[in-house]
Amino acid sequence: MCGIVGYSGYRDASDVLVSGLTRLEYRGYDSAGIAVFEKDGNVTQVKAKGELKNLKNKLSDEYKPVGITGIGHTRWATHGEPSDLNSHPHRGRRVTIVHNGIIENYAELKAFLTDNGYEFFTATDTEVAANLLDYYYKGDPLRCITDFMSEVVGSFALGIMFDDIKDTIYAVRKESPLIVGVGDNEAFIASDVTAILEYTKKYYLLEHNEIAKLTANSVEFYNHRLKRFEKELKIADWDLNAAEKGGYPHYMIKEIHEQPTAVKTTITPRIKNGLPDLSECGITAEKLQTYRRIFIVACGTAMYAGMVGKYLIEGLARVPVEVDVASEFRYRNPIIGKGDLVIIISQSGETADSLEALKISKSLGAETLGIVNVKGSSIARNSDMLIYTHAGPEIAVASTKAYMVQLSVMYLFAFKLALAKGAISIEECERLTKGLAATPELIQNSIDTVINDCQFVATKLVAADDLFYLGRGLDYALSLEGSLKLKEITYIHSESYASGELKHGPISLICEGMPVIAIATQKSLIPKTVSNVEEVKARGAMTILVCDEETVFGEETQKALDYIIKVPKTDEVLMPMSAIVPLQLLAYYTSVNKGIDMDKPRNLAKSVTVE
Ligand code: AGP
Repeated sequence: MCGIVGYSGYRDASDVLVSGLTRLEYRGYDSAGIAVFEKDGNVTQVKAKGELKNLKNKLSDEYKPVGITGIGHTRWATHGEPSDLNSHPHRGRRVTIVHNGIIENYAELKAFLTDNGYEFFTATDTEVAANLLDYYYKGDPLRCITDFMSEVVGSFALGIMFDDIKDTIYAVRKESPLIVGVGDNEAFIASDVTAILEYTKKYYLLEHNEIAKLTANSVEFYNHRLKRFEKELKIADWDLNAAEKGGYPHYMIKEIHEQPTAVKTTITPRIKNGLPDLSECGITAEKLQTYRRIFIVACGTAMYAGMVGKYLIEGLARVPVEVDVASEFRYRNPIIGKGDLVIIISQSGETADSLEALKISKSLGAETLGIVNVKGSSIARNSDMLIYTHAGPEIAVASTKAYMVQLSVMYLFAFKLALAKGAISIEECERLTKGLAATPELIQNSIDTVINDCQFVATKLVAADDLFYLGRGLDYALSLEGSLKLKEITYIHSESYASGELKHGPISLICEGMPVIAIATQKSLIPKTVSNVEEVKARGAMTILVCDEETVFGEETQKALDYIIKVPKTDEVLMPMSAIVPLQLLAYYTSVNKGIDMDKPRNLAKSVTVE
């Protein structure tokens, strides 16, 4: 979602802002803009609807503001269509701002400001925020910001410049993330650290209701009572290479190839003496024994990783697990409390619905465990226990490596829990853990084995309007993710069904040539899924089966299978780590064949920081 960059230093601010915005492109946006304090002291804005290249063209063809301080923004429209006019920055009379979040009471505030003589030219809530700041501005920026905070309902991260305070940026946040970077004689604000890695790795995490004041040579922090305080300086452990394509045509394929390393980095420090060890995350056997029920709450791909977790935990540890969509969980008055564990899974750690679900769970007395990729993110900081996944920066909107490491953590957790509950023996746990430790090679092997098949089969999917994914058990959980991946980046309508549900309705949709992708890696369920495939074949479907390399089919069954993609075999319970690879690659190559920029699919944002 919206990306914020701000700069005060000695470099050309326009260049720094555009380079930062380029690094934030992955978050998803529909327009962009910058505002720079020019040498004459005026603030000049340049904005453009659409891709960042439109803004870059405007800056090179029309006018590029010259100055050393400025703020920039990529906008993902919430109020008002994507347009030059609605793009950020927005101006109040003497104030310029960029904003991430939603001002929920903007209509009420707009009416109030209109009564006080303010005029509005855009459909945005941000213009209301800019004018409200102007209304409160009586020469003291910090006081103005706290007055603003006490009036506004909603979420915001703001970069603010006051016309009469040259070369200074103010920043404030509530809910929406913001960091403050520091270099030598320069300072930055940004929605995340990737925007500033080119210049510095040193940054501060701005917390809720904290205000920062930045100039080239100083960074000051204030709380909402205007008391100045010091913050802990952090050093980013992501380097610039990790956030670049490194020779691959797209971030998504680069990230698919990074999966073996990401899994290795995530699991290796958590396996000790052949068994899972999560003690550094605050998870001990004694603690695990106390949980009666587990809830896994997340959104999108992270939630589908949770679905795999449910099958694993229930199957191995025999502890009941409910998987919830975070946006539903937060409003369904969940029946949870002491003795329950709520696991929140999130790559970004900033997903608004997941964060709220976490807060609700804590307030109801449940213990919470965050499984998070981005260090220091809101979910990471608010969870009682925390397991970081070590995927490194995931830039492609379609999550691949973050999902894979989430799965790897689900395994560690399920094995540990099963052992703690006495549901499996120590020998069994050692055997499973050994299999997990070998998954980095397994994933690499899977990529190498299926890549050509996927490229070929993807050519058969490009023309499809509709497509089904089928599976049972763990394969069903996997098919949900396969289907989401495909629809996100190919714009093909795709649904995933538990194979057994087909005859209860969805089979009526099968028509001549419609692709159906079935996943069958769980031995006892293979015959059942295959007979469902035969049923759709009999109704004209084009069938694709993903199974392990050792599965053999009779002659009759072969006839029902148009394409078979065989993945390397491992212990049945670990097969999702191998079988997800072709689902990712099928989506990727279909997207390539359709000429879609899958790293930035339409309408989607990487980090969904508003409801
Ligand atoms: C994944 O491909 C999606 N873009 C999306 O479903 C994502 O997984 C979801 O928005 C959750 O994000 P999070 O992991 O950052 O919380």
